[in-house]
Amino acid sequence: MDGRDLVRSVKAVGSAGVSQRLRTVRAAWRRRRADAAGLPSRGAERARVPGQVQEVEPRLGGGIVRFGRSELRIVVAVNGAVFWGWDGAGPEPSYALGGRCPEADPRAVLEPDKDGGWRVVAERATVVVSRHGAVEVRTPGGVTLRRDLPPRWWEPVGGGEARWMQRSEVAADARFFGLGGRAAGPRLRDGTYRLWNTDPGGAFGPGDDPLYITMPVQLVVADAAAHLVFHDTSWDGSVTLREGEEGAGSGHDRAGTSELRMDGGPLRCWVMVGTPARVLHAWTSLTGAPALPPAWALGHHHAKWGFDTEQEVRRIVSGYQERGLPLDAVHLDIDHYDAHQVFTVDHERFPKLPQLAEDLRRDGIRLVSIVDPAVKAAPGNAVYASGADEDAFVRDASGRVVQGVVWPGEAVFPDFTHPRVRRWWGSLYAERLSQGFSGFWHDMNEPTSFNAFGETTLPRSARHFLDGRAGDHREAHNVYALCMARAGYEGVRELEPEKRPFVFSRSGWAGMQRYGGTWSGDVTTGWPGLRASLSLVMGLGLCGVPYSGPDVGGFDGSPSPELYLRWFQLASYLPLFRTHSSLRAGRREPWEFGADVLEHARMALAERRRLLPYFMTLAHVARRTGAPYVRPLWWSAPEDRALRDCEDAFLLGEGLLVAPVLDPGARRRAVQLPRGQWYDTATGQVYEGPAQVLVDAPLSRIPVLARAGAVIPVRGDDGGLQLEVWAPARGRTGGGLVVPDAGDGWEEPEIERCVARWQGRRVVVEREGEDGASKPLHPVRVRGLEGA
Ligand code: NOJ
Repeated sequence: MDGRDLVRSVKAVGSAGVSQRLRTVRAAWRRRRADAAGLPSRGAERARVPGQVQEVEPRLGGGIVRFGRSELRIVVAVNGAVFWGWDGAGPEPSYALGGRCPEADPRAVLEPDKDGGWRVVAERATVVVSRHGAVEVRTPGGVTLRRDLPPRWWEPVGGGEARWMQRSEVAADARFFGLGGRAAGPRLRDGTYRLWNTDPGGAFGPGDDPLYITMPVQLVVADAAAHLVFHDTSWDGSVTLREGEEGAGSGHDRAGTSELRMDGGPLRCWVMVGTPARVLHAWTSLTGAPALPPAWALGHHHAKWGFDTEQEVRRIVSGYQERGLPLDAVHLDIDHYDAHQVFTVDHERFPKLPQLAEDLRRDGIRLVSIVDPAVKAAPGNAVYASGADEDAFVRDASGRVVQGVVWPGEAVFPDFTHPRVRRWWGSLYAERLSQGFSGFWHDMNEPTSFNAFGETTLPRSARHFLDGRAGDHREAHNVYALCMARAGYEGVRELEPEKRPFVFSRSGWAGMQRYGGTWSGDVTTGWPGLRASLSLVMGLGLCGVPYSGPDVGGFDGSPSPELYLRWFQLASYLPLFRTHSSLRAGRREPWEFGADVLEHARMALAERRRLLPYFMTLAHVARRTGAPYVRPLWWSAPEDRALRDCEDAFLLGEGLLVAPVLDPGARRRAVQLPRGQWYDTATGQVYEGPAQVLVDAPLSRIPVLARAGAVIPVRGDDGGLQLEVWAPARGRTGGGLVVPDAGDGWEEPEIERCVARWQGRRVVVEREGEDGASKPLHPVRVRGLEGA
């Protein structure tokens, strides 16, 4: 946020602009002074590389390779993931891991390789270490996927944290994905991507980087295989990517490169090799299964910064109800707080919040509350007082509590890297639950502190407990929101043990899926913003965070009716389907854009409701396998180059292909189809992939294609579960998974596997079980028979 944005925001929340600005200037000055005194100056540095191999020490699952000036520890884990760490770094402690580090695989052994190098041969990958410390990852068939050159460190001569650089080469045909939520993706083109969670300070578009969620997680997709590499270091850093180039017959390929530079922290990484599905499975088995949202969270949510009275909320809800539009959740932004203080309610404007929540609940609508980490530093504030009693707030190197400026004015920040502070914070959600809230929207948790100069976050010298290791904000910054999500999730789970918590968070890091999802942040209103919001959802899914979605219509400004509608239609196929916008932005209710848009939005809402059982199934599949709901077209065919470069369509689970309209005026669009037969679900027309086809995209809908043979659980007209089956191609079979809704508790429903096949002139569906096939438990509707 620059000075102008700050002033605009301050005006927007109605505080006295000038005194706020003064406070901000003071905060910035204090921050700089704190850093100058609290951080060691780097001074002269000495560069270091590993040197020559000296000796090795085999250990379970790998071993240690000692070089002249460093040592490398390699462990293959039982889930097939490979870990290596330099300078003695081990896999723990780690904020990314979902539990303890997985056991070592005893079958993996360190053995000599040629030219004085060493190697570890595992089931899914071979790791080869050269005598100078280059590390290569190869497929079991011997194809090189990644070659890390010997790393380089720069160590302050006077002692302190070393900076380091790791340069890697990948195949000439490889494409990079991931690195958290990036606006200019999902394919990450040549450029430098910073690893420092950042509030861009205003609405962002495709050119803005970094954003709220950065992660040192790269998914690299090449002809030979996909691999995911995660550098488990939370410090500030950057990744410079350059795609390779194939030699067009001359045989001279140029490798793709990735150069990772870190300001500190251990040089250690995990690598997983295989198909995209296998890689994501290994990744989420390492970092934790994605939390399962309650069923209502898969419906439609409506939010707006500026719903500032109970009457306004009721008016919006009635607007949905009177028009017969489905609505599942309403979000309350900071407007409902008392003086913008978290865990409070303005009783004048929201005098009967629990009653409002109960009334909405009766109509099947939940209330979701925004939760900001910053606590107003004022004597009368009960949250502040209890936090001070707990010694919960981040201090600077001299021991003073760090003060920033956020919505409530001068504010302090809980140190979520302390288990005691997490417990205290988690207990505060009792107040939210007693107000009737069912879910929590964590915001401003990069953490953001408005600041007219330089960085809009805490001073780098600010001290953090770091779960007993003690350190400063340089290390804690990127995991701050992850730890806040943990505090919120665990707190709510303890307070309401019978229900699954619903938490989604603007910022986060590797492993955040354990506690819930995210949204695309303050995406700019405009066609580029629409594209950027899809990029974020896809990129995050490939980093193991499957639940997210954009602010429909964009955060700022007023979308044209067409843009609003196209955004609405896209989001109706994304895991989080939410309309939201800024205080100063135009309205986002579907009836605000004219009669046509209203009717088309109604269709999108009805289709979302019909597909809820499919979304629930995808949520269970994500939890059990790590496969995101929203998958790139190449998910099952990563070797298909045309699909690898396609960024404007996605697979929703196994069965559907969604081709949103991302350009104004478009009423037809090209769709790149993966192999097999596909039905246009609106017209029944059949297409044969792989191919690029032109399909109709009238204003009333975006193209959605169903894979021939797909079995999709949907809500039937009677509200019960129905299986919609798209006829398989003649002579072929199909199938799909079905997970019946088991409520919002912890029950683990069984996944039903269904197979669809031709029997004479009929298509039949059978349930696959241990005792063979049986009749499906739900009514079946076959579609696409005319086309097949
Ligand atoms: C920033 C969030 O990104 C946005 O969604 C929210 O409306 C504002 N903060 C105000 O709370």
